[in-house]
Amino acid sequence: MSVHYRELGFYNTRVMFKHAYQKGFAVPAYNFNNMEQLQAILTACVLTQSPVILQVSKGARQYANQTLLRYLAKGAVEFAKEIAYQNGLGEIPIALHLDHGDSFELAKDCIENGFSSVMIDGSHLPYEENVAITKKVVDFAHQFDVTVEGELGILAGIEEHVSSEKSIYTDPDQAVDFVEKTGVDSLAISIGTSHGAYKFKVKPGEEVPPLRLDILEKIKEKLPGFPIVLHGASSVPQEYIEIINKYGGKMENTAGVREDQIQKAVQSAVCKVNVDSDARLVMTSIIRKIFAEKPSEFDPRKYLGPAREEMIKLYSYKNEKVLFSAGKAPDIMKELKG
Ligand code: G3H
Ligand code: 13P
Ligand code: ZN
Repeated sequence: MSVHYRELGFYNTRVMFKHAYQKGFAVPAYNFNNMEQLQAILTACVLTQSPVILQVSKGARQYANQTLLRYLAKGAVEFAKEIAYQNGLGEIPIALHLDHGDSFELAKDCIENGFSSVMIDGSHLPYEENVAITKKVVDFAHQFDVTVEGELGILAGIEEHVSSEKSIYTDPDQAVDFVEKTGVDSLAISIGTSHGAYKFKVKPGEEVPPLRLDILEKIKEKLPGFPIVLHGASSVPQEYIEIINKYGGKMENTAGVREDQIQKAVQSAVCKVNVDSDARLVMTSIIRKIFAEKPSEFDPRKYLGPAREEMIKLYSYKNEKVLFSAGKAPDIMKELKG
């Protein structure tokens, strides 16, 4: 039995990105794997009146179970409406997106199970194969008005020992060719970010290096009006790393993307910013602290609840101060509802 995303109350990303591009903000794309993360994302986004992309990785889909996920997602839309009503606020536009889809079959399955947007990540394939698989997903997805994100360039972590600059960063001319040949709705690019909590090798006291915003500008020049996506955009706040390490954790030499770089990118062509690691860090830090301070505690609500509260703070802060998506939902809703 298949379900279209409109039946669940989701929207694709087209109108969200149009507003994001024109008004210089990015739509937050927050990953979730469980109920508390989902509640925190929606609460923060409704209260800050931000559009949001709920992002599900292949691993998250396996973890949460695809059938349960569909109902969780449907519940999410109703939950968001309820919070809005209780606070005298309007509805926000929500997209349900597959993060890093690695096959046509997975993307198709998501499209048939209520996803309004999918990513097909062929960035590790030879160029022509990336074009072919992306086009195949686009041709299928567009029949159902589902939007598609492709990726070009490799997001390398320092741990992967990638030494050649050229093989990492997105080539602007190739980006033009890729968009023309595939018909994708947005493109994830590589300009110096990477996934996880160890993005840059910096010695204590040293500043994290900037992103290659010059490449972003070239892509913007060659693809005017086209929405760009930034993966690996967590900032890895050191305050949470300190809490983790203070209460028994061991995370050394972590480093995230500078907030001033994200702010610049979203005022340019970046319309979607992916964040997962920062929320993982917040959750881990709060739970570690509670376990250490109250060793007799064994009610999950007593540690997952405070973790959820802290995640609401994190997401709200990002929407307001980093992505500038706060307050942008009403205009998008107006256009979507006609
Ligand atoms: O890009 C990766 C996201 O952080 C999702 O990670 O595959 O462990 O769920 P995951
Ligand atoms: P972070 O690991 O920086 O949070 O990136 C998440 C991401 O890109 C998900 O696709
Ligand atoms: Zn990613």
